[in-house]
Amino acid sequence: MTQLTDIARQMVASGKGILAADESPASAGKRLAAVGMDNTPENRRAYRDLFLNADGIGQYLSGVILHDETLRQDALDGTPFLTLLADNGILPGIKVDEGLTPFPGFDGEELTRGLDTLPERCADYAAMGARFTKWRNVIHIGADLPTPELVHTNAITLARYARIVQDAGMVPMLEPEVLLTGDHSLSRAEEVTRDVLATVFYQCTRYRVDLSAVILKTSMVVPGDASGEVMDHDAVALSTLRVLRDTVPPEVPGVVFLSGGQSAEDACRNLAAINRAAQAEGGAPWPLTFSFARALQGPALAVWRGDDEKVAEGRETFLTTLRRNTAALAGKDCA
Ligand code: G3H
Repeated sequence: MTQLTDIARQMVASGKGILAADESPASAGKRLAAVGMDNTPENRRAYRDLFLNADGIGQYLSGVILHDETLRQDALDGTPFLTLLADNGILPGIKVDEGLTPFPGFDGEELTRGLDTLPERCADYAAMGARFTKWRNVIHIGADLPTPELVHTNAITLARYARIVQDAGMVPMLEPEVLLTGDHSLSRAEEVTRDVLATVFYQCTRYRVDLSAVILKTSMVVPGDASGEVMDHDAVALSTLRVLRDTVPPEVPGVVFLSGGQSAEDACRNLAAINRAAQAEGGAPWPLTFSFARALQGPALAVWRGDDEKVAEGRETFLTTLRRNTAALAGKDCA
C-alpha cells in the first residue's frame, strides 16, 4: 500500500467522519451574520475555536478540512489550530480551489478557479503539514443544465487537480457538488449525478490519477429543494447507492458526503439510510461517511451565537451532532 493510500484510508477510518471547516472568509461571514456576528478575523478565530477546541473530537473525526486562514492561525489560547488537530490524532486537510467563476458562453454555469497556481501552493501546504486537499466544482441542475461541456470541463479540472496534489504528496478529495437548489425530481438528480461521477472517474483515468489515493466527496442524490417532493430517506439511499455502484471504481478508498444545504436532521437521516441500505445489500466497496460543514456546524452555531457564556453549551451540541452522525454510519437512527 502506498503512503497516500494509507492516508486516504485513515481519512475514512471506521466510525469516523470529516469536518468541513473550510469556508472562505466571505462564506464564514455568512455563517457569522446568521448568528448576528461581524465578519472579523477575531470572530472567525472564535468560530473555528468553538469546533476545533471541543474536547474529544478525535473520537468522531478522522480529518478536518481547513481554509488557508485557519491553517496559519492560532486558537484563542495561542495554540496553532494545526497543533490542536495533531493532538487529537486528526488529519489536517486544506481547501485549494479558489472559488467559482462564470463559465463564459454558458449562462447559469460556473467553473472553479485555481489550477494555474496549484503546484506552488500545494508544495507550501504539504510543507506546512497538510495531508489532504479539497477541490469543489458545482453543477447546477436546470431545464437545460448541466451542459455536457460543463460536465466535461469540470471533470478534466478535477482530474488535473488530483494529479497535481498527488505529485505534491497529499491525497486529493474530489468534490463535484451537484446542487440541490431547483425544482428537479429525485430521478433527475440521479441521472445528473451518475453522468457527473462517471465523467469524473473517466477523466481521472485519462489524466493519470492514482484512484487508490483519492477520496470522493459527493452530494447525496436528493430531490431539488423547490421540487415539492417529500424527502424519502430510503429512496435517497437507494438512488445514491445505485449511482455510486455504477460509477465509483472499487479501488477508490472511500466516499464522503457533503450536506449541501439539507437540514442537519435530513443529512443525518439520509446518511443512516444509505449505510443501512448498503449493509442490506451485503456492504459497499468503500466506506461511506460524512464530510459535512453546515449539517455539523449549524446546530452548535445556533446555540453559541458568539456568546462567551454559551461556548460550553455550543460545544456540547457539536459533540452530540457528531455522535448522531457517527451512529448513522452504523445505520442507527439520528435520535
Ligand atoms: O464545499 C462544501 C463543504 O465541503 C461541505 O459543506 O456540508 O455545508 O455542503 P456542506
